[in-house]
Amino acid sequence: MLGQAEGLKQEPKIISVVSGKGGVGKSLIAVNLSIAMNKLGKKVLLYDIDIGFGSVEILLGSSAKLTMKDYFQNKTSLDNIIMKTKYDIDIISGGLDVEDLVYFNIGNKDSLFKDFSRVMSKYDFIILDFPPGYNENLENFYESSDFMVLITTSEPTSLINAYTFLKMMAVKGIDPDELHVVLNMARDMKDARKCMERFIGVIERFIGMSPSATHIMRFDNSVRKSVENQKPFVVEKKTSQPSLVIYRLANLITKERKIKEKKTFLDKLKAFLRIG
Ligand SMILES: Nc1ncnc2c1ncn2[C@@H]1O[C@H](COP(=O)(O)OP(=O)(O)OP(=O)(O)O)[C@@H](O)[C@H]1O
Ligand SMILES: [Mg+2]
Repeated sequence: MLGQAEGLKQEPKIISVVSGKGGVGKSLIAVNLSIAMNKLGKKVLLYDIDIGFGSVEILLGSSAKLTMKDYFQNKTSLDNIIMKTKYDIDIISGGLDVEDLVYFNIGNKDSLFKDFSRVMSKYDFIILDFPPGYNENLENFYESSDFMVLITTSEPTSLINAYTFLKMMAVKGIDPDELHVVLNMARDMKDARKCMERFIGVIERFIGMSPSATHIMRFDNSVRKSVENQKPFVVEKKTSQPSLVIYRLANLITKERKIKEKKTFLDKLKAFLRIG
């Protein structure tokens, strides 16, 4: 049954890794964050919602035989599409295209809900790796998030698209408990800090959102290498600046907090599956 009913295990929390623009490091951060959280003793399911081909799988050097598409086409059970990895995190590969997302809207809601609540309640955290940009077909996923990790670089186009993403969220009334902003691929820390300060100032002033924490990740050749070698950098280069940033993020997200739950996991799951 669900974690709540057990009275022992906490309900799973959902972390969404998003960005306005593509290629800013979402998948890389989602994969490494999953592993770091696992090292902190959490059971993690990484769900690659990325449309088309699975970057998570490439980054982990393993490939899923079955995807969500097979589940939606009733070819297999939800349990069968969960892939174990050598890093002790489990992954689900989306393998969906935009039209397939319609399944979330028209599929058999009762069985979807049963399957998802049973499978997801085994985890402490579910990390969702998104395609870039605000996508209305994915709103149910954004809505179900407890934590939103927004990745940008200091490039103006990336910042503007990140701003637009948050603006869309605000317009739609999507309000995660915590927003973390990561400025990735920083080449100069002083410039990056200034850029972050300006960005936060703008979103506070014009959107009325305040991030819980900000993070600056350096451009680092070891990150590039880790992608080429298909070996996550939090494992390969534990003390590099990008690894320390990921561990700080993991620590902040996993720390005990006494915030009052706005929604139960079941409510969030309903949003996720667009029920009710
Ligand atoms: N801190 C960094 N230092 C060096 N290279 C980086 C860093 N972060 C990301 N990269 C490079 O950027 C590439 C793109 O990263 P990634 O695939 O995670 O982006 P993404 O946001 O998921 O892209 P998409 O929007 O296409 O899904 C990586 O393969 C890596 O080479
Ligand atoms: Mg990606």
